[in-house]
Amino acid sequence: MAEKNESLSAPTVWSRRSFLKSTAGAAVGSSLVRPAGAAQRALWPFPVRERSNFNTGWRFHLGDSPDVNGELNYVAIRQWLLPSGNAFSKTTSYQQPGGNLGGNVQFVQSGFDDSGWRSLDLPHDWGIEQLFDQSLPSSAGKLEWWGVAWYRKHFRLLDKDAGKRIVLGIDGAMSYAAFWLNGNFVGGWPYGYASFELDLTPYINIHGDNVLAVRLDNPPESSRWYPGAGIYRNTWLTKTSPVYVGQWGTFIRTTVANSKNAQLEIEVDIVNETNHAQKVTIQTYMFGFNLFVEPFGYSVPLDVTLGPREMVTCFTNAALPSPQLWSPDQPNRYTAVTFVTQGGQLLDDYTTLFGVRTIAFNANNGFLLNGHRLQLRGVCLHDDLGAIGTALNYSALKRRLGIMKEMGCNAIRTSHNPHAPELLDLSDELGFVVMDEAFDTWDTPKMKNDYNLLWPDWHEQDLRALIRRDRNHPSVILWNIGNEIPDQTSSQGPMLAKELVEIVHDEDPTRPAISNCDNPDSAFNSFGDQLDVFGYSYNQDQYPNYHAQRPNKPFMGSETSSCISTRGYYVFPVSDGENRFAGSIGRFVYHIFPLDSNEGVGDNQISSYDLYAPPWACAPDTEFEALDKTPQAAGEFAWAGFDYLGEPIPYGDEASPTSPLYQAPSRSCYFGIVDLAGLKKDRFYSYQARWCADLPMVHILPHWDWPERVGQVTPVHVYTSGDSAQLFVNGRSKGKLTKQKYQYRLRWDDVVYQPGKLQVVAYKNGRPWAEKVVRTSGGAFRLVLKPERTVIQGDGMDLVYFVVSAVDAKGNFVPRANNLVQFTVNGPGEIVATDNGDPTDQNSFQNSKRHLFFGEAVTIIRSKSRIPGLITVTARASGLAQGTAAILGTSFFPFP
Ligand code: GAL
Repeated sequence: MAEKNESLSAPTVWSRRSFLKSTAGAAVGSSLVRPAGAAQRALWPFPVRERSNFNTGWRFHLGDSPDVNGELNYVAIRQWLLPSGNAFSKTTSYQQPGGNLGGNVQFVQSGFDDSGWRSLDLPHDWGIEQLFDQSLPSSAGKLEWWGVAWYRKHFRLLDKDAGKRIVLGIDGAMSYAAFWLNGNFVGGWPYGYASFELDLTPYINIHGDNVLAVRLDNPPESSRWYPGAGIYRNTWLTKTSPVYVGQWGTFIRTTVANSKNAQLEIEVDIVNETNHAQKVTIQTYMFGFNLFVEPFGYSVPLDVTLGPREMVTCFTNAALPSPQLWSPDQPNRYTAVTFVTQGGQLLDDYTTLFGVRTIAFNANNGFLLNGHRLQLRGVCLHDDLGAIGTALNYSALKRRLGIMKEMGCNAIRTSHNPHAPELLDLSDELGFVVMDEAFDTWDTPKMKNDYNLLWPDWHEQDLRALIRRDRNHPSVILWNIGNEIPDQTSSQGPMLAKELVEIVHDEDPTRPAISNCDNPDSAFNSFGDQLDVFGYSYNQDQYPNYHAQRPNKPFMGSETSSCISTRGYYVFPVSDGENRFAGSIGRFVYHIFPLDSNEGVGDNQISSYDLYAPPWACAPDTEFEALDKTPQAAGEFAWAGFDYLGEPIPYGDEASPTSPLYQAPSRSCYFGIVDLAGLKKDRFYSYQARWCADLPMVHILPHWDWPERVGQVTPVHVYTSGDSAQLFVNGRSKGKLTKQKYQYRLRWDDVVYQPGKLQVVAYKNGRPWAEKVVRTSGGAFRLVLKPERTVIQGDGMDLVYFVVSAVDAKGNFVPRANNLVQFTVNGPGEIVATDNGDPTDQNSFQNSKRHLFFGEAVTIIRSKSRIPGLITVTARASGLAQGTAAILGTSFFPFP
């Protein structure tokens, strides 16, 4: 066992106290004298708090230590994990049992020889590395992501770290994470989507080797979708003085904000980990974002005396003159630095990124940002990043959000759990508002081993931790306490909802609580009554009734549409009716999806006319109409921005076992507006036409390569931000159509197919607005490879997506090409994954060969660390001219 770090005692148990600075006359702005030294940064020459990325140099082993024998299952480790959540429970404080959990397990021992284990850097999702297996549940992605896995890391500290508090931060580990340092059990956290910190101080070796061992244990049947596996988000090592700003210990709230002035309330948790009283001074400065030259404002210095092992919460105010408000169009941010000083010595400096804005929900006028209505044009997103699984990658996430932005989306719902902190950072930066969601399940299960197992012990800690982590993000506007909770109509439902809503209000008085409710009865029962804002999951026909019966309560479509389609795939004849799959379908067991070859059941795909949806769902157009008829609704969150792994409704194990649909090879869903590879489906343009009213655009569907349909009716549908359009087939007008009230697409349903040229000219207010031409191709002739960016950071993490497509000899896109493409790379880059958006493709994502799917595929290239140079990617397919493209790998940039 390792020596104890005697300078600090363990484990952490503080008493709490609130220190209220009641005088509102806190600092500020230009009218008051600046505290000495502020502008010169004399107080802050170098950060004393050190926070560094802890992702490199891990060892990984899939499987359990051979000697575990059940002693580390959740029932056995429950009492040991619970103390890690103490800071997030106001009801219970757990004590660590005596002894050392797992102290005899081989993989925990400092001296265990892990040299045979795989070396890797985090974030890491081991589930996505598995081979697809048709016999596995399609609802969870046909990948085996359950089971036990271990990670170990050897590290050393510096002599100067003696006396410091050493904390490990984990943004997410899936799941039931348990940590040992130098053979001693440290703590853990079971909810795989939660971010948490563990204090390593008691067992750290300052002057010698340290070995961290981590055991993860994913239960089977614990998720309705692919949840990923492993330490799949970033990890951090933080070193502070024993008197420090607590974990997520600042809360900066805007109380007033206009162009002249902003008033801020600043709450700071200060912790004294020593056994002596400490007298310190706390002061927070507001700087520009990453601009530490001159503070824009500051709070008055506050003297606080902390008792031994005590945490104190301090409240102060500050003003910001002429603030730059945050909004999706102008996502301005500030950096606050909270200084903790003692007799002129700086003990801690804690950085908080924040934005200045006001929010309000109104029963008649939806959502107001900075006093103005902002219609929520939102999408629901799952946590996975497609072909790279759940392993967090900043550039992959940024790409996704960029695609959503291009569609006119301004709001993200983090379905159905806490997402990576980077999602919030990027939402702040790129300008999205966020519905931040905690749970898919409370104590009534949707899956046997889902969150219901953790609910009794952990729901308070998980909800409080989420709110504390995310509460300074200007993007966050709502806390979602649960998705389609089965307790919406149970007798205990209102009590459970009340408890969660009270936690939300206790942690954050500035943002309302919502729940996504699929049972329309909950709108008017005492479950719905607990919510600050009511969230409809589908049931859009209920909006007028809700407003009539609850005229004082804000509401929205917190989950809408769930249209299903496959990019590039069309089935004829085109039959209307979004509920083509209607049948007697229970909520959680899907019994019957009637077979109808019209929608593509035989191919395990869904026609992309954007008309089809499961029984609870609808085409985008139907939701648009409901929102236009009920402007009181704050807006919508469409299901889903991107296809995700798992839930390939109507195909797969959610169908009846006797149905042929059950046998389908599908492993990812059809709900996405954009496919799994990040390629736009037709539906993208339906939303863009509505959400980007000022962007001249027009989009035609289907493609025009139908040799087998010559002379047959082949409907043409058009999405445009204009108000009318004229269609030409081989130069002959098929008529000009004008959008009628509640019409969101223009349809020429009787067009007879002849090869050649489809042309559409859109008009707005009588003037030409946008034009699009689609031509029948002459067959695949060559591949075209296009990188989405031309420069890649040489940090070993940055990704650039290359899209390959087939074109004919004249350069026309070939929409039905399905050639097998082999990708190769030259230079300091490597292929991490390939994809084509086909939900039935069971070829491993890591394979460098991929079939084109309706003309396109993607390869994802990662930079090699610290090696600058040209990265050349080539795509080859038999019988076609190859496509080649190059990007520039820059020299190393540090982790953001
Ligand atoms: C909803 C559910 C989502 C997803 C969606 C598919 O009921 O909240 O998680 O399953 O259905 O339509």
